Amino acid sequence: MITTKELREKFLNFFVSKGHKIIDGASLIPENDPTVLFTTAGMHPLVPYLLGEKHPAGTRLANYQKCIRTGDINEVGDDTHLTFFEMLGNWSLGDYFKEEAISWSWEFLTSPQWLGIDPGKIAVSVFAGDKDAPRDEESADIWRKLGVPQHKIAYLPKENNWWGPAGQTGPCGPDTEMFYWVGQGNPPQDSNPGNDESNWVEIWNDVFMQYNKTAEGKYEPLKQRNVDTGMGLERTVAVLNDFASVYEVDTIKPIYQRIVELARDKNNQKAIRVITDHLRSAVMIMGDDKGVAPSNLDQGYVVRRLLRTAIRRGREVGIETKFLPIIAEVVIDTLGDVYSELQRNKDRVLAEIATEEEKFSRVLKAGEEKVKVYLRDGQISGDDAFELYSTYGFPLEEIERMGVVIRDKDTFYAKIKEHQEKSRQGAKQKFAGGLADHSEEVKRLHTATHLLHAALRQVLGEHVIQKGSNITKERLRFDFSHPDKMTPEQIRAVEDLVNEQIKKGLPVYFEEMTVEEAKAKGAIGLFTQKYGDKIKVYTIGDKDKPFSREICGGPHVKNTSELGKFRIVKEQASSAGVRRIKAVLE
Ligand code: ALA
Repeated sequence: MITTKELREKFLNFFVSKGHKIIDGASLIPENDPTVLFTTAGMHPLVPYLLGEKHPAGTRLANYQKCIRTGDINEVGDDTHLTFFEMLGNWSLGDYFKEEAISWSWEFLTSPQWLGIDPGKIAVSVFAGDKDAPRDEESADIWRKLGVPQHKIAYLPKENNWWGPAGQTGPCGPDTEMFYWVGQGNPPQDSNPGNDESNWVEIWNDVFMQYNKTAEGKYEPLKQRNVDTGMGLERTVAVLNDFASVYEVDTIKPIYQRIVELARDKNNQKAIRVITDHLRSAVMIMGDDKGVAPSNLDQGYVVRRLLRTAIRRGREVGIETKFLPIIAEVVIDTLGDVYSELQRNKDRVLAEIATEEEKFSRVLKAGEEKVKVYLRDGQISGDDAFELYSTYGFPLEEIERMGVVIRDKDTFYAKIKEHQEKSRQGAKQKFAGGLADHSEEVKRLHTATHLLHAALRQVLGEHVIQKGSNITKERLRFDFSHPDKMTPEQIRAVEDLVNEQIKKGLPVYFEEMTVEEAKAKGAIGLFTQKYGDKIKVYTIGDKDKPFSREICGGPHVKNTSELGKFRIVKEQASSAGVRRIKAVLE
């Protein structure tokens, strides 16, 4: 029997013995990166170093990292998929490459001194090659040299054997993945993850990051060749112990068992697994030092969905009590020694989770009353079901759980689609920074805000990132990342720079382009849109060398000469590491 604690320790000790430094894991909420909602892999916080920046701890690193992946959320409830999981990783930042990475992976997995897995139960996959990068015979050769037979090496396409970051552009490359046999008996001679997928579980992935994917979709060689690996902690512990699923792993089983104790229908394994996964994930997000409370926005929305699905599934298995804080405590008990932030933030998490459960139970109660009002012969119409959903937040599944038939479900789905499209448009507008008030005063201050943003980056540096903005007819307010109070000289330099641009009478205009094109053109702003989405980009000044280029919904004035004189009236702290400027046009 091996525990999660033992595997974490073994992994780190092994890589220390190979000259690696252990670094801290990062927050689940990514720093300064609006392209992803959550940290999805250990490499995520390391992107600048994979691109060539020097890491203070050196060129060989290892750690364990909290990760959230929502992409496979519909698979949750099977034996292996988890929304929250821990990833063990080791990195070479322009140091060793394929030979060492693969040999060490093999040594760690099979050496009796480390995991001692029977080599006969391991198979691997390598990249099959395509127009962007060659077939990875180099990795296959190394595997063969280590004793992996040819028929245990699957050659798979980009879809399987390529790792790129969530933000779509950036460091990426072919990978080689290691799988463990979970079928009956011993694997047949010719079985591998390419031809017998369901009997092999991926436990580790070595990525050879040697390309940078550009905004145009090109793969350019990186300055340095890196290695980025990720081993799923819970999965690996499960297979090493011959567990039937990840729900038997020591950091998960107590949660599952506590839910079983509370449930009337103890055999609804799928529902209990979903509750386990979702509450564990929500508590880990909320318990992070940058923790988010349930809301209707971004990460908060994911937390709300996880909690509300868990509550509904709880009703399905007949849990009678308010159970979220009870389970949250169990989650904190299972991981509080590894992630001390959970202890630190425990009171807040328990309070917020109880509030959300209370809120949703009111929604459910009100919804049930309404269903009774709409009910005709045990049925309600699709229109009414939609009304219940959109006005009261009462889900379709709950209507069905009451034994009520929805007469024209297609109407319901059509309306839901329309509704989602509308909120998507609304969200786009919001992220694009569109103004509610289109008055001349507000438009002028809005253009001045872009000038201010660009000027701050010139005077203080490129670490300046917009954190918020608010414009009234009288003044603009602008929050931005910067560690120190601005000196009077810096304030004057920023004012002068903005006023110079106003004097120059620069043109202000927008173009529509994809997120990738905007990035390639050096636009700044919040990149919250999806890959391929069309967005508006406002430019101030010359087309090739603009003073400012920013993603924005507008509207703006046509020329900076319309602005008048710009003056900063206040510079103060807004929150840790964030400054706030108030400015006017006179
Ligand atoms: N970043 C790689 C993964 O998550 C190691 O699979």
